Amino acid sequence: MSSGMFEAKVVARVQEAQDIASLELAGMDGAPLPPFTAGAHIDIEAAPGLVRQYSLCNDPRERHRYRIAVLRDPASRGGSQAVHERIQPGATVRISAPRNHFALAPAPRYLLLAGGIGVTPILCMAQQLAHEGAEFRMHYCARSPERMAFAGRIRQSGFADRVSFHFDTAQALDIGAALLDAGADAHLYVCGPGGFIDAVTTAAMGQGWEEGRVHREYFTAPVHDSSGDRPFALRIASTGRLLAVPAGKTALAVLQENGIDIPVSCEQGICGTCATRVLDGVPEHRDDYLTDAERAANDQFTPCCSRARSGTLVLDL
Ligand code: FES
Repeated sequence: MSSGMFEAKVVARVQEAQDIASLELAGMDGAPLPPFTAGAHIDIEAAPGLVRQYSLCNDPRERHRYRIAVLRDPASRGGSQAVHERIQPGATVRISAPRNHFALAPAPRYLLLAGGIGVTPILCMAQQLAHEGAEFRMHYCARSPERMAFAGRIRQSGFADRVSFHFDTAQALDIGAALLDAGADAHLYVCGPGGFIDAVTTAAMGQGWEEGRVHREYFTAPVHDSSGDRPFALRIASTGRLLAVPAGKTALAVLQENGIDIPVSCEQGICGTCATRVLDGVPEHRDDYLTDAERAANDQFTPCCSRARSGTLVLDL
């Protein structure tokens, strides 16, 4: 769990669409909440010891509340079920201050693509860009109108004319056309299911979009093939201890078994909470958190999922 968690009150819960509920959170004492920018997320302790990340989807200028939306996903690891079943208006929940790994970069124009519950950070971005008078186009895809959260709110917003709605069965999004239409200097922000993000990213690369203009946020980590995992060792710099990490076990599990606690949250390479400084050795990065430049620097890794290319990693612990 990230340090710096604090208590917030659940002041409203709205069923926004089939299997999607939004929660509105406010400070316990009515004081302003820590500020955030579009694309930010917070950690929420959905149940004791069960911390999950949710993007903020309200206007980033608001300081009196955070709004999140949660899809009930029976295939999830329990976080969304716990939120749907346990967190009701009047409840107190522990949350973190907002963090942003999906921030808007300065750009002449923006293309925002949302798939399903991936609308949450994208909606926040649309509100911020509309407020700034920036040029943007948003496409929002869902399986059906019943599964589309916030559609009414978007249609009534001041930026409704810049949003197109798409459904699996009708008006499906033509990804290639949307990318072409955006222009050669646009920045793309995409959030949604992994298959949606991968399809958009592949199409963008096929059209020659530079990697720096393509920004994506996964909700669950892509599955990695672990059949070729090899053992490696961790050396703890402060004590010199050498810990063996066998194939089939994470570096995080080995650290924890040996009484070395580091902050963790998602445990699947998305949130960056467990990022640990590497003093020597070459990590095999398997997270979706570090940027390409951060990976290339080889001076940190995420022990919840990443491994090592070298025989030993020396950790600044
Ligand atoms: Fe989230 Fe490791 S705990 S990246």
